[in-house]
Amino acid sequence: MFTTGEKLRFTLFGKSHGPCVGGILDGMPGGFPVDTGMVAEEMRLRKPVGRIGTPRREADEVRFEQGITDGRTDGSPILMIIENGNTDGSKYMKFYDTPRPGHADLPALLKFPDHDLRGSGQFSGRLTAAIVAAGAIAKQYIGTFGISVDAFSRSIGGIADTEPRDMSWARASRSNATRACTPELDDAMRRAIEDAGSDGDSVGGTVECVVSGLPIGFGGIWFEALDAELAKAMFGIPACKGVEFGDGFALASMRGSQSNDGYRFEDGRIVTRSNHLGGIVGGMCDGAPVIFRTVFKPTPSIAVEQDTINLSTERDDTVSVEGRHDPCIVPRAVAVVEAMAALTVADQIMRGY
Ligand SMILES: Cc1cc2nc3c(=O)[nH]c(=O)nc-3n(C[C@H](O)[C@H](O)[C@H](O)COP(=O)(O)O)c2cc1C
Repeated sequence: MFTTGEKLRFTLFGKSHGPCVGGILDGMPGGFPVDTGMVAEEMRLRKPVGRIGTPRREADEVRFEQGITDGRTDGSPILMIIENGNTDGSKYMKFYDTPRPGHADLPALLKFPDHDLRGSGQFSGRLTAAIVAAGAIAKQYIGTFGISVDAFSRSIGGIADTEPRDMSWARASRSNATRACTPELDDAMRRAIEDAGSDGDSVGGTVECVVSGLPIGFGGIWFEALDAELAKAMFGIPACKGVEFGDGFALASMRGSQSNDGYRFEDGRIVTRSNHLGGIVGGMCDGAPVIFRTVFKPTPSIAVEQDTINLSTERDDTVSVEGRHDPCIVPRAVAVVEAMAALTVADQIMRGY
C-alpha cells in the first residue's frame, strides 16, 4: 500500500493481475455529497480508446465499499474497489529471465524476490484507475471552493500544440481521444501514436494542467510549497520524467525583466500581467492560474527488439515485448494528472493553506 497526503490521505493498493486495484481516501468531511456519475465520467476519460490505447479493456466500475452512505460521505475512510477483469499474464513470463528495458522489471526482480510480473504487478499503470476515482472526489471537494483542475495533451510524439490554452480549452479536450485541444491536433497526435504503434514502437509527450480559482497566497511554503507538492504528486505517476511550471526550463535563457509577472489592478482586484512563472511565487499562488506541464516518456513495453540481459544464463540477450500495451501513455495520463493535482490541492486546503 502506498499513501500520500497529510490531512486528506490517499492510499493506493492492488496489482495489475490481482483481483482488483483500489484506494482509500481518508479525511473527507462527513455529509459531503458525492456525485458518482461524475466519478464514472472521470474513469471513462482514463480508458483506452481505439488503436491509441491498450487492447486491454476493463469496465472500470468503482465500487464504494465504505465511507459513502446514501450518496454522502459518512466521515469514515472511503474504500474504493475496481475489479480487474481482462487479465492475461502469459506474455509476461519471459521477463523473469529477460527484464524489459525502461520498465521496472530488473530492479523489482532483484529487490522483491516475490515480485509478480504479470501485467507489471504493482508497477502497472492499471493502478492509476484508483487514483482517478479518488481524484474525482477531490475535484468535487475543491469545486466547492471555486477551484478547478483541467488538463490536456500539450504534445504527443513530436506534434506540439503551440497555441496559448486556458481552462476552457482543456475542458474541450475531453471530446478528443488524444486529449488534444482541437480536432486537427487530435487527428495529428492520433496518427503519430498509430504510426509508432504500427512500427511496434511507442511515443511520449506532455500533459499541461491548469489549476484555476486559487486565491493569492494559497499554498504552503518551503518543503510544503504548492509547486513542490504538485511536482512530487506528478513524479508519483508512472512514466513521469519531468515537471515544469510556467515557462519552466525556458526561464533559464530569459532575463528577470522578461520572466517577472508584473501586477496591476483590474476592477479593484490584483492580477498579474503575464504568467511566465506558472502562478506560483514563494510556494504560494500569485493570483494567476497555476500552470504546469508533466512529461511522460514513451511507453517502455515495445515490440521493437531491445538489448537486455538474461538472468538465467547470465549472458547478454534481447527482448521484444508482446502483449497489450498503450503505444502512448499521454492520452490516458491526462485524467491521472488532474486527479493527482486535485488530491494535492484538496490536501493543502485541509491543511489550512
Ligand atoms: C495511465 C498509464 C498507462 C500505462 N500503460 C503502460 C503500458 O501499457 N505499458 C507499459 O509498459 N507501461 C505503461 N505505463 C508506464 C509504466 O507503468 C511505467 O513506465 C513503469 O511502471 C516504470 O516506471 P517509471 O516509468 O516511472 O520509471 C503506463 C503508465 C500510466 C500512467
